[in-house]
Amino acid sequence: MADNKVYRASTTAPVNIAVIKYWGKRDPKLNLPTNSSLSVTLSQSDLRTHTTASCSPSYPTSDSLLLNGSPQDVSGARTQACFRELRTLRQALEASKPSLPKLSTYPLKIVSENNFPTAAGLASSAAGFAALVRAIADLYELPATPTELSKIARQGSGSACRSLFGGYVGWDKGTAADGSDSVAYEVAPAAHWPAMRAVILVVSAAKKGVSSTTGMQTTVATSSLFPARANETVPRRMKEMETAVKAKDFETFARVTMKDSNSFHATCLDTEPPIFYLNDVSRAAIKVVEEVNKEAGKTVAAYTFDAGPNAVIYYLEESEKEVAGLFKAMLGEKEGWEGARGSKVEANKSALEVVEKEA
Ligand code: DP6
Repeated sequence: MADNKVYRASTTAPVNIAVIKYWGKRDPKLNLPTNSSLSVTLSQSDLRTHTTASCSPSYPTSDSLLLNGSPQDVSGARTQACFRELRTLRQALEASKPSLPKLSTYPLKIVSENNFPTAAGLASSAAGFAALVRAIADLYELPATPTELSKIARQGSGSACRSLFGGYVGWDKGTAADGSDSVAYEVAPAAHWPAMRAVILVVSAAKKGVSSTTGMQTTVATSSLFPARANETVPRRMKEMETAVKAKDFETFARVTMKDSNSFHATCLDTEPPIFYLNDVSRAAIKVVEEVNKEAGKTVAAYTFDAGPNAVIYYLEESEKEVAGLFKAMLGEKEGWEGARGSKVEANKSALEVVEKEA
């Protein structure tokens, strides 16, 4: 009798926001970056992707993906690379244990839900691909470590490799041509610096104008500022940032975060044609942070912006009133803000937890 069983695993993956930005690919096919990057993982209770991966011989012949209820195209090279690599690992497992069901031969059905706007510069692809890779790896019962899975998630979306870990996470650009050493690693667990907080100011939840992928390719090809950023500035800042995180030195963390965001947006402006991710409301947020820091007489808040106008403000719990309080008050008074989401740095040991599993 045919095996019509449905095999299923679910997982959630957090959003991460880079404080040293990934911008530029040295190999677009393998998604290898021109520079290393470092991010902070946000709490899953605020921003996360929930994904269920299932497979069955009874499913229609092709793989499918549903995101927030809408069918997505899975024929793209990135999704295909993730499916292929995970199936290859499962095949190796099946070859070593012939009693295992041949899940690698069954069509996959992926169902994902984001609890935040998709593709609005809120790192949705990071949480999305991390959850997809982890859910399939769990479904296939792969004995892969987060580092190994980060290599696969990276091929879905670069920043996704960092969402395989919680806390403070680096992505080493690596030097190998096959990308085998371009992996994510833990700089420090969330518990190391639990006072870290982030507030996300949603200026616009609309889809971004220029996608990260297109934007960074054009920057690499046309910006004359870019080589200095990739080869000198970022390697130096990676060291400064790792040291600051390990020493829980917020002033350095904040200063380097803001400088790196500005350096990244400067290379965007230096791109031909120029890319503008920040708008007037974003620039107003920068001014507010400067004011808050001036009034405090020290750096208590840091802004950073990804490929969109939304601001992420990092601060410590002890500065909650001055920083988050001020921004929340601003939301009521200023035009242009759609909302704010406060977030703690992910407190779980592992950023990814299996919330349901059936086989
Ligand atoms: C500005 O990871 O979305 O958020 O690899 O092409 O999918 P692809 O790019 P993506 O780029 C993220 C860019 C960034 C900075 C960062 O997260 O490091």
